[in-house]
Amino acid sequence: MNQATFLRSILWACLAGAAFATSAQAQDAAAGQKKAAMCIGCHGIAGYQASFPQIHKVPKIGAQNAKYITAALVAYKKGDRKHPTMRAIAASLSDQDMADLAAFYEAQGGGSVKSVADTGAAPAAPAEVAALLTKGACASCHGANYNKPIDAAYPKLAGQHGDYLTVALRSYATEGNPQVGRSNPIMGAQVKQFKAAELKQIADYLSTLPGDVRTVSQSPLR
Ligand code: HEC
Ligand code: HEC
Repeated sequence: MNQATFLRSILWACLAGAAFATSAQAQDAAAGQKKAAMCIGCHGIAGYQASFPQIHKVPKIGAQNAKYITAALVAYKKGDRKHPTMRAIAASLSDQDMADLAAFYEAQGGGSVKSVADTGAAPAAPAEVAALLTKGACASCHGANYNKPIDAAYPKLAGQHGDYLTVALRSYATEGNPQVGRSNPIMGAQVKQFKAAELKQIADYLSTLPGDVRTVSQSPLR
């Protein structure tokens, strides 16, 4: 290899590296803000109720981890999460749309703002619920006060709507239903050790904890 060829090959490697870095990281929260116009009709209204598969509030997605938001959207698009409305919405989103939306929602409240959950101990779980949480080792993944997951691809649970968490937990346990279910191997194995009523008890407790997640109606980004 002569010197010119050598330099060219280095330049080429750098360009390829730069292109890769851009495509892996280009999350544009400002673009996400515009794209969120199609989300706020449900996720932007505090206490907005969905009616399928039972009446429950739509999840709070503001300040949720971006990696988890993207993973959830991909799962709806692929059909690993079967919820029909979210499947239809996710099907219309490109990878770039998902990255932008996830960046926008993650930026709403967490991060620089000191979270409520950092400022004090969470209310203790009633003994019965504490035993269930210990049995599932839930905090070993969902983290301190259920607000600091050990991996950004795992969701923050603290302060999420209890009725939504109940639906979410039961959906991991649902099999063979074309419209209800989430095929996640980790959570699928988790929920099978509990009765439906126990999942509701857990969900109700998690919803009482101080946490980051919130409903975002308009963007504070300017
Ligand atoms: C018609 C109402 C509606 C609209 C519009 C809507 N969603 Fe949803 N979304 C829901 C419901 C209901 C769920 C819960 C689905 C389930 O049980 O899995 C959900 C779940 C989610 C989740 C999973 C949350 C979690 O904690 O796992 C994400 C992420 C999400 N939506 C993002 C979006 C984004 C981004 C948009 C806009 C592009 C959007 N949604 C538009 C109703 C809606
Ligand atoms: C080994 C790690 C691990 C353990 C232990 C674990 N989880 Fe999870 N949990 C996850 C992951 C990963 C997801 C995301 C799955 C997906 O993409 O649908 C998740 C998702 C959830 C969700 C859905 C949240 C939402 O916004 O839709 C709930 C609720 C939940 N977990 C509760 C629990 C509870 C309660 C326990 C204990 C009984 C528990 N988890 C134990 C890793 C774990």
